[in-house]
Amino acid sequence: MIGLWHAIANTPKMRLKFQFKIARKTGYTLDIASEPLAIPFKVDSVAVEGNTLRGTAGAFWMPGQSIVVKLTFDGDGFEGEMTIPGMGRLPLQGSKGRGPFLSEELIDTVLPLRKNEIPARSDEEIDREVEALLGRMTLEEKVGQLFQVPASNFSFGGAVETDPPEKLVAEGRAGSVLGAFDVARVFELQKLAVEKSPHGIPLLFNADIIHGAQTIFPVPLAWSCSWEPEAVKEACAIAAKEASASGTVYNHGPMVDIGRDPRWGRVVEGAGEDPYLGALMAKAQVEGFQGATLADPETIVACLKHFIAYGAAEGGRDYNTVDISEMALRNVFLPPFQAGLEAGAASVMNSFNIYQGVPVAASEPLLKELLRGELGFDGVLISDYGAVEEIAVHGHARDAREAAGMAARATMDIEMATRSYEFLPELVEAGVVPEATVTDSARRILRLKYKLGLMDDPYRYVRPEKERDYHFNEEHLQASLELARKSAVLLHNDGTLPIRSGKAGRLERIALIGPFADSRDLLGPWQFSRFSHETVTLYEGLLGKGIPPERLLYAQGCGVEEPLPGGIEAALEQAATADLVVLALGESSDMSGEAASRLSIGLPEPQLRLAEAVLALGKPVVLVLTNGRPLVLGELGERANAILETWFLGSQAGNAIADLLTGDYNPSGKLTMSFPAHAGQVPVYYNGFRTGRPVTDSNANSKFISKYIDGPNEPKYPFGHGLSYTTFTYSGVRADRASIAGDDKLTVTVTVTNAGSVAGVETVQLYIQDVHGSIVRPVKELKGFRKLRLEPGESKVVAFAIGVSELRFWSPANGYAAEPGAFVAYVGTSSADTLSIGFEWTGA
Ligand code: NOJ
Repeated sequence: MIGLWHAIANTPKMRLKFQFKIARKTGYTLDIASEPLAIPFKVDSVAVEGNTLRGTAGAFWMPGQSIVVKLTFDGDGFEGEMTIPGMGRLPLQGSKGRGPFLSEELIDTVLPLRKNEIPARSDEEIDREVEALLGRMTLEEKVGQLFQVPASNFSFGGAVETDPPEKLVAEGRAGSVLGAFDVARVFELQKLAVEKSPHGIPLLFNADIIHGAQTIFPVPLAWSCSWEPEAVKEACAIAAKEASASGTVYNHGPMVDIGRDPRWGRVVEGAGEDPYLGALMAKAQVEGFQGATLADPETIVACLKHFIAYGAAEGGRDYNTVDISEMALRNVFLPPFQAGLEAGAASVMNSFNIYQGVPVAASEPLLKELLRGELGFDGVLISDYGAVEEIAVHGHARDAREAAGMAARATMDIEMATRSYEFLPELVEAGVVPEATVTDSARRILRLKYKLGLMDDPYRYVRPEKERDYHFNEEHLQASLELARKSAVLLHNDGTLPIRSGKAGRLERIALIGPFADSRDLLGPWQFSRFSHETVTLYEGLLGKGIPPERLLYAQGCGVEEPLPGGIEAALEQAATADLVVLALGESSDMSGEAASRLSIGLPEPQLRLAEAVLALGKPVVLVLTNGRPLVLGELGERANAILETWFLGSQAGNAIADLLTGDYNPSGKLTMSFPAHAGQVPVYYNGFRTGRPVTDSNANSKFISKYIDGPNEPKYPFGHGLSYTTFTYSGVRADRASIAGDDKLTVTVTVTNAGSVAGVETVQLYIQDVHGSIVRPVKELKGFRKLRLEPGESKVVAFAIGVSELRFWSPANGYAAEPGAFVAYVGTSSADTLSIGFEWTGA
């Protein structure tokens, strides 16, 4: 029964395909994937008796309930059943292999309906068509376009009571659909819209494609650690190619919120704590998703979310109060949105939080004045899930009717999931909302439908034949592997890594221990891949390096959050006979992401107990971390010989980690979010302010200075930190001028040398400090970086040009401007390890 199996089941509602991956080491393991609904199964137990396998699994939306699978194998086939609470008992009959894509059945139906070509339309032509269409539409029909309905009754938020999607679509009371994922479902609903709804206006299909569609890439926090926008852009282009083949045309991403508080689960979806890097990553993602033109059926709309300051939620608790200054809003949280808009993002989504006491969904100053007015955004503004109704829950509107008026007047075009906009016709009638406001929103949505080519060919994104070609193909998996290798960060190494094993190496036996040693939970939150069961585990990755199974000892030791009976004993038994222990610990995918804030940001207790027991053996220990946020590592962080932070690296995670551990790939990732030394420091980030009583070299022991009495101010691992198997030295930092004026530029140079014995890639970082200003300025701000590859002994001179654009910031007194005075340029290997040189900008 070892291997990959599949079965197709007919339920009264739909045809479902299941895939089972069965493996065996010390016991049997089972992984399950489903299609068209990608149910995120979490297998809890597997038992085998004779040729019958019995497993139980959970799924995140039904806590406490179990899915039960029973399969009896006979040669190349099996028979059995699966019981899913709420769905009942499904008889199963299956055979070996991946089986066909379910969507292949659609190819013959859809091909004759698709157009070979659509007219290339200019903006003027599109405007003319849209105006003509608007002229034929009633107010109610225009309002209909503003609703986004969930594709199924499954809710990502509170229960939404509404008519079924089929009815809403056929009646023209939906303009877009959320989370259809399945191409057959897209086809079914699109056909209804085209054939039944008034004017036959096609639907937009929206989904959260955050770090891959079927081929899963590293989570965004991880890929930001590559400091390689080009590679991130390529990942997004591949995600767009895979998603658009299944009918998705409009992404709910990228998430470009700055994250400074690791308690907040959504830091995993962003690029970390820095606005400059965040802006580059925002631009790269928009360019990747949208490609050269939205008219290309292999690209999808990029939606910048969540506008704005969502990451400043107090206490790191998701959806919580935000109360920040305009200084922070504009200098920290806005830059990634500005960059994304400059790159042409066609959509923006609001954030759930308040700003200045007003829910952003209702904020005219933020949406109408800042976003549309000042930043010139004329694309589609979409509410986050239920955010229009929540204006009333926050206590800003008295009810959903008033909330609808507020959101519409703030220029919110699409209401996601809820239906407060049903009040718009009567609000127009009552003079609360101008009819032109509703028409403007409908116009923006219809324009987008034209730009995507949907108005000319509603089925152009329904391409089951491309699913078969693109989904999870070799080329995409290779791109995922490459980005995964670049995204991991070597936090600490006393020389234990890289591991040497096999014929030429000195190590005889490796014990691979921990809940992530052979887990497929390496994809992270926000993924809906049908291929999750084919994720490469660390154990499989190391076997793939040629380490013979008898020298790769394995024990799970404990679950992610719960002990395993006898788990520690079994782990110690393996570790005791090994030369090196690889301890694979971390957080499961559902411990970060939306609605997954944590009070304690360390490893769960059972894992700490396992680690403690293993460390007590005194063997060299390499800690491999899988997690969605910076963690507080405590004593374990001090005692491990080496620590590799792998976040969630995606479909190829195990292969990438094995490449890094064995040195076949030299680690090069650099942290984009600081690792606190203690949870009490949170939020701790490199670009804070000095305070009036800063700690200096000479006053560290004084009392009345800005410090903790029971621990350090500094994080354990700062922004920009990341080691290599070689060492890089920095010398000779110089500036070609001491002073510049107006638009002059000065050049700062530094020599970087590979002082070790293997080739490596270094990210050389440039930070600037504005020494004094009309408002205080951060101690350091990232303003540039270069990635260099250096052979052993090789040196390169790296040059950074600095001009007024690197010195500009927002202040209440001067708006966006640089202020004359003294500056310091810092160049180095991390935000905390730099050489510096001062200069002056004398003014415009
Ligand atoms: C709520 C999340 O905040 C948002 O990021 C996401 O796009 C929507 N749900 C839809 O899934």
